[in-house]
Amino acid sequence: MSAASLEFPADSLTHGRPVTAPDFRSAKARGLRLAVITAYDYTSARLVDDAGVDAILVGDSLGMVVQGHPTVLPVTLDEMIYHVKCVVRGTRHALVIGDMPFMTYQASDEQAVLSAGRVMKEAGAQAVKLEGGVRVADRIRAVVDAGIPVMGHVGLTPQSVHQLGGFKVQRDEDRLLADAEAVERAGAFAMVLECMPADLAAKVTASVSIPTIGIGAGPGCDGQVLVFHDLLGLYPDFRPKFAKRYADLGEQVRKAIETYGKEVREGSFPGPEHSFR
Ligand code: KIV
Repeated sequence: MSAASLEFPADSLTHGRPVTAPDFRSAKARGLRLAVITAYDYTSARLVDDAGVDAILVGDSLGMVVQGHPTVLPVTLDEMIYHVKCVVRGTRHALVIGDMPFMTYQASDEQAVLSAGRVMKEAGAQAVKLEGGVRVADRIRAVVDAGIPVMGHVGLTPQSVHQLGGFKVQRDEDRLLADAEAVERAGAFAMVLECMPADLAAKVTASVSIPTIGIGAGPGCDGQVLVFHDLLGLYPDFRPKFAKRYADLGEQVRKAIETYGKEVREGSFPGPEHSFR
């Protein structure tokens, strides 16, 4: 038995080799589920990558959980490039996917190719993600034709929050199926399914040959994605029903910092072990 097969289970996606977009695409045929999480900086990317996820999404959710905006709309391409660069420096194994911010691809195919090109060339992402189905199929095709792997995103698309009337569960079966088909036909290697009934997400998943990555879309998807801050209990403003908290780090951080403040005020920090002689 080789060292690789000892170290990695038989169902490992790449047995330790860096994950590529074709690996992702082929996971569905191999019956492998994909674990994706967002990250926005070097330290979180190191933690996430060391924990062995398949892909890191530098999502425009950073507009909310890092920048404190009420929506993702204000995120700029330059800001995305900055965050992708930080994540790329902290990643050795996972596929790094850079999100295309609002109004960096909607205007034209040319705008989409140039923006995606910057996320790849300047920031070092290995794929990009953009939102929409039928209405952005041409954009996806143009970016794929430029040699850039594209992840689609259908269902609740947060960049259209004002058109959708809020962050609402999407239930229009015909539209969701048509959007998913358009994304696949345009050449995407995978797609996010966000906020839709679980049975509908399972139906969409069965209707396409590329992996679906669910968030608020039930267990019938080919993989799942969660926002780093939601998974760790770090984002205080909003707690979506679908976001399972695997830790309550927000509370732990608050307690640790309270203890630090107390020790500074009472003079017990720094002690001799933190001081130079
Ligand atoms: O921006 C983001 O983090 C996303 C995920 C929630 C899928 O699009």
